[in-house]
Order: sequence, then structure tokens, then C-alpha cells
Amino acid sequence: MGYRVVVVGATGNVGREMLNILAEREFPADEIAAVASSRSTGMDIEYGETGKILKCKNLEHFDFVGWDIALFAVGSAATEIYAPKAAAAGCVVIDNSSLYRMDPDVPLIVPEVNPDAIDGYVKKNIIANPNCSTAQMVVALKPLHDAATIKRVVVSTYQSVSGAGKAGMDELFEQSRNIFVGDPAVANKFTKQIAFNVIPHIDSFLDDGFTKEEWKMVVETKKILDPKIKVVATCVRVPVFVGHSEAINIEFEDEISAKKAQSILREAPGVMLIDKREDGGYVTPVECVGDYATFVSRVREDPTVDSGLVIWCVSDNLRKGAALNAVQIAELLGRRHLKKG
Ligand SMILES: NC(=O)c1ccc[n+]([C@@H]2O[C@H](COP(=O)([O-])OP(=O)(O)OC[C@H]3O[C@@H](n4cnc5c(N)ncnc54)[C@H](OP(=O)(O)O)[C@@H]3O)[C@@H](O)[C@H]2O)c1
Repeated sequence: MGYRVVVVGATGNVGREMLNILAEREFPADEIAAVASSRSTGMDIEYGETGKILKCKNLEHFDFVGWDIALFAVGSAATEIYAPKAAAAGCVVIDNSSLYRMDPDVPLIVPEVNPDAIDGYVKKNIIANPNCSTAQMVVALKPLHDAATIKRVVVSTYQSVSGAGKAGMDELFEQSRNIFVGDPAVANKFTKQIAFNVIPHIDSFLDDGFTKEEWKMVVETKKILDPKIKVVATCVRVPVFVGHSEAINIEFEDEISAKKAQSILREAPGVMLIDKREDGGYVTPVECVGDYATFVSRVREDPTVDSGLVIWCVSDNLRKGAALNAVQIAELLGRRHLKKG
């Protein structure tokens, strides 16, 4: 006997990718429901490449009783209304929004990093999925932290427009086309022109001048990996459709050479080291699309601190940054708690 799984936000960037990944990984599901807003009711949704078509249901009227797991990807406003209803109906919620990430009664999980923390899900029947930039960063940091204890991280991100949902991808496409034909590049989703430009601003501004996206990288890294690690981030939107990149400076308690770090990263779960120190011997976002891995390239020793490394880290934000991580959490939940069969 398999699971009954609901994908909430099934018409969105992350929701569609969750369906693809559930199918690709042959998640043991007896039944899958595709759910979104009333705008999408009755729409045909493909269940990956299985040939199976799901009819989209309206979240407003969906009854979660009898369903085992709900993968939510609908944004915080709808999550706030419907996730507690699903959880109260006995269906475990794995949520992609930022709503529950810092709730002390909700585990924030990256299966390669802190799998044991999942046991805390019983308090609310909810598990949170981290921000896309945090997820790939902690996968790369974890094996290095185990080897030499990270003290401080300075990260600059280069985040693709798909991180802002379907509307973000549409805006990059429209603006690029308009510029080519001499029409004005109107900004609706982003605060400035994104085509042929970069924007050092993701999510809202906080009182200290940092943005909420930057704050999320700090607090989520502490919650998932180690509260003692100091993190400072600059998050930048770039005109790339899918795939987030990060330049990460890491300072350690103990000595660690670039060579040692490369050999650790080569064996680390979820990491793919591509570091040839020659033209093209590194990964760019275009190459990571559709992949599961967090790619690490350009591992160097930082000569400006006692023990430090600089790395380049790239991953598919819709996969490891969202949908893949959510499905991995569902798999972990199945192995540890919701055994079937
Ligand atoms: N994209 C990423 O890299 C990423 C990474 C980590 C986390 N997340 C989070 O994942 C969530 C979804 O992101 P996305 O990129 O997939 O956004 P998206 O492409 O804009 O899709 C949004 C989805 O939510 C549904 N929805 C919106 N309001 C709803 C409502 N009131 N009731 C029911 N369904 C509703 C939409 O349904 P309709 O089509 O019917 O409108 C659609 O399926 C967000 O919380 C986001 O922060 C995204």
C-alpha cells in the first residue's frame, strides 16, 4: 500500500516540479491530487512523464481527511489558511513558503544536513522547506563544517527569476522581447528592469538595511546547520530563468586546504564537485537545470584570513531549492515515521 499525496499549488513553478520529481523518483503514491486556486479548477496537469493526467482541484473545497502528505507551494497567504486545516485533518504538511520556517515547533529540514530534526514534526504536523538560496548553501557547507568548523560565512547570491514564481519568468521574457523590438521594458513583478540588468534587492527591506531574503539566509542557516555560525548575505536577482548561483567566503576554526575541501566535497551527499581550474571547468546555472545536485566549483584558499575558503555554488532553485528538497523530506518522513506496506 502506498501514500495518498496532495500537491498544493500544482499549477505553479514549484508545484509542477514537485509532480515531475514525485514521478521521476517513483515516490510510492497510490493516489496524487493536484490542487490550486479556483482559477485552475478542472485544468489538466501532467504527472511528470508518466502519461497520467490529473484534474486540478480547488483548494477552497479540498478535504484533506484521509490524505497522508500534502506538499504545499502556494505562498504564505494561502498557506496560513489551508496548512493548519490539512494538518488538523491528519495530513502531514511539507511547506515551501516562509511562513513556518522559524517557528520553534516546526522542523526546517534539508535531508542531507539535519535529518534527525524531522522528528519534531509531531508538534504541529508541519515540516518547513528552506529558502532556495539557503538550501543549496547548507548542502555545500555541511561537510566542510564537519571537517573544520565554520565560524563565519559571507555570501553573495545571483538568483534566477524563477525564484519569483511564474510571473518573474514571464517578466524577464517580456522585457527581453520588448527591448529587442524597441518597446519599453515595463517592470511589474520586479522593482527595476531585470532584462540585461541585475537588481540588488529580493523581498522587502528591514530596518537595518538588509532585505528579508538576506535575513532568511542568516537565520535559516543557523536553524538548520549551527546557531554559532555567523552569516552575512547580499542577495541579487539576475536575468537567468532557472538556477541560483552563490559566491561563498567561508572562515573556519581549524585549518583546511583547498585540496582537502575538494576531496571532502567530492564524497559529500547531494554535492557534485566540478572544479577543473581551466576554461569552462566549472558549472553555470544553465547546466544545472533539471539536475538534483548542488554543484560546487572554483574551490580556493582565501589568503586574507587565517583559515578560509572561497567557493562557487550552483543549483536548480526549483529542484534542490524547493521541489526536490520537499520530496526528499517526504521520503525521509516515510522511512522514519509514516511507514506503509
Ligand atoms: N520558486 C522558487 O525557487 C521557490 C523556492 C523555495 C520556495 N518557494 C516558495 O514556493 C511557493 C510557490 O512558489 P512558485 O514559484 O511555485 O509560485 P508560482 O509559480 O507563482 O505558483 C503559485 C501557485 O500557488 C497557487 N495559488 C496562489 N494563491 C492561491 C490560493 N489562494 N489558493 C490556492 N492556490 C493558490 C497558484 O495557483 P493558480 O495557478 O491557480 O493561481 C500556483 O499553483 C512560494 O511560497 C514560494 O516562496 C519558491
